[in-house]
Amino acid sequence: MDGRLQVFAGNSHPSLAASIMAELEAPLGRAMVGTWKNGETRVKLDENVRGSDVFVIQALCDPINHHLVELLLIIDALRRASAARITAVIPYFAYAKQEKKTSGREPISAKLVANLICTAGAQRILTIDLHAPAIEGFFDIPVDHLRAAPLLARHARRAGIESIVAVSPDAGGVARTEEFRVRIGGSLAIISKRHPGPDVSEALEMVGDVEGRTAVIVDDMISTGGTLTLAAELLRERGAESIHACATHGIFAADALEKIDRSPIERVFVTDTLPLPAAGPRAKLGVVSVAPLLAEAIMRIHKDLSISALFT
Ligand code: R5P
Repeated sequence: MDGRLQVFAGNSHPSLAASIMAELEAPLGRAMVGTWKNGETRVKLDENVRGSDVFVIQALCDPINHHLVELLLIIDALRRASAARITAVIPYFAYAKQEKKTSGREPISAKLVANLICTAGAQRILTIDLHAPAIEGFFDIPVDHLRAAPLLARHARRAGIESIVAVSPDAGGVARTEEFRVRIGGSLAIISKRHPGPDVSEALEMVGDVEGRTAVIVDDMISTGGTLTLAAELLRERGAESIHACATHGIFAADALEKIDRSPIERVFVTDTLPLPAAGPRAKLGVVSVAPLLAEAIMRIHKDLSISALFT
């Protein structure tokens, strides 16, 4: 790619965008991303992007639909201004849990959102820990799918958490948990969970021994905190000596932070793919930044270097 590298951002996560730019040692592209008086989103790029290799950073966090529209309009503006290549950098891809129909007359929301981003003009996606890896296939463009497990494992080791039982709180998370376990050492346990209703989880059984051990629950996201705190209760019942948790995306919806605060979990490590909620107890929280990883990936994409080499 010969064109200049330029990076723009929507309004979803300014501190992450600033940290990425600090790593890249470059200023963020100048653009106005605001709102018209009638409530519509308004975008105006304030610099030339013709022939450039452009990246747009936007986490799909609350208010999700608003941030999605910002992303779509920035991409559209870039395409119409003749950017040579547009990469959407989406640290957290929302709607990912709606990646299949679980009953009749439901949308497949993750596919529709992927279609919207491609239709707007994105030519590449850079993201971290999609809820289900198969979502990559919802995009008919290249997807560079980064994983946070190595980063979280390194951080946990530095915090003195080693020789653990890595616990997947549901069957779908086993591969992610295993990647974490391989990097930190220890054994694996798997909880089987079901959803009796929307945003409600119920732990059914666990495979693996945690008695007298340090357990670390590994998940892709913490939304209501139900999955995590339920898993923690089960681990305590089964005799785990101490309980910690690692998750890539800290959504912390509703009273998740309060639930975690009341739970037997000692420490929760999340990354900064999403901004933390403004309120709520956070004494147990540790935040690991993905900015260096995303900056390295942006540079590698720009220079046509391998991304998988980042994880070997
Ligand atoms: C479920 O499949 C996911 O991996 C997470 O366990 C889940 O989305 C967490 O949601 P919540 O915190 O609302 O239980």
